[in-house]
Amino acid sequence: MSDPISTPRIVVTGRIPEAGLEILRAINGAEVWAWDDDSVIPTDVRNEQLATADIAVTLLTDRVDAAFLEAAPNLKMVANVAVGYNNIDVAACAARGVVVSNTPGVLTDATADLAMGLLLMVTRRLGEGERLIRSEEPWQWGMFMMLGTGLQGRTLGIVGMGGIGVAMARRARSFGMRIIYNNRKNVDTAIESELDATLVSLDELLAQSDVVSLNCPYSDATHHLMNAETLAQMQPSAFLINTARGPIVDEAALVAALQSGVIAGAGLDVFENEPTVHPGLLECDNAVLVPHLGSATVETRGAMAATAASNVSDVVSGSSPRNPVTT
Ligand code: GLV
Repeated sequence: MSDPISTPRIVVTGRIPEAGLEILRAINGAEVWAWDDDSVIPTDVRNEQLATADIAVTLLTDRVDAAFLEAAPNLKMVANVAVGYNNIDVAACAARGVVVSNTPGVLTDATADLAMGLLLMVTRRLGEGERLIRSEEPWQWGMFMMLGTGLQGRTLGIVGMGGIGVAMARRARSFGMRIIYNNRKNVDTAIESELDATLVSLDELLAQSDVVSLNCPYSDATHHLMNAETLAQMQPSAFLINTARGPIVDEAALVAALQSGVIAGAGLDVFENEPTVHPGLLECDNAVLVPHLGSATVETRGAMAATAASNVSDVVSGSSPRNPVTT
């Protein structure tokens, strides 16, 4: 709880759906300024706006660091329009009394759908097939053409069994997969028994899985969790799916593993140095690469914007945000 903010100046640093802007504009006494372009806001424009901002609504392409906070002397809140918040120095915000919020829950299904889509694409070689058709090279149905890997009875290892991990497990179960997972603690026993899922160590998960799906948050603890050593612990026939954050995977090590057959393939929605993609990945036919589309549905992006804006309205009215992020 804190004091209500009577005439908040709210700066939205990127283009967000109307559903969010409507909630922000309806906040009593609020003045809303929004960057209205899909490009990343130039730093000088951002800083000029932050100079008088009480609240910043940010995207995952914003780095909320010391320089951001210095530019915003009156800042009381950062509402990130994302579930991940590795773009925010949460400790620095806390030290200055700046409240932080995120948008959990509303993007769970969209992200799990995309993870399952990548899993299907890479195991059934759909990217390769699409490239073949578009190349206009002659082709002919063949008994042994582009054979992929079936999913029934295969093991999916989920690293990070939060909401998205559980939603991914539900989807994979309906494709006949067996679920093992690695997490700091067991998930609810009801969920464990619904999914017939077993908690295992990371070593066991890597050794047993036919597909490994990364669904954990990015932090110092998960930086390069998948590296040359851990990739080598996977089976040569196994696939890696990453819809979490790029730097969880050492991209150079992944390229080497894909090129030398240490693993069979990868489906990636996120990259270590977005928007740059390791050039080696572009050469790998066994990699499916999409541009950070996990939450990219009309419905989900609207819900994310509305959730971020509702967090703002909580704080303006003197309450704690409904989705607080703490250190
Ligand atoms: C998307 O990557 C998010 O964290 O919301």
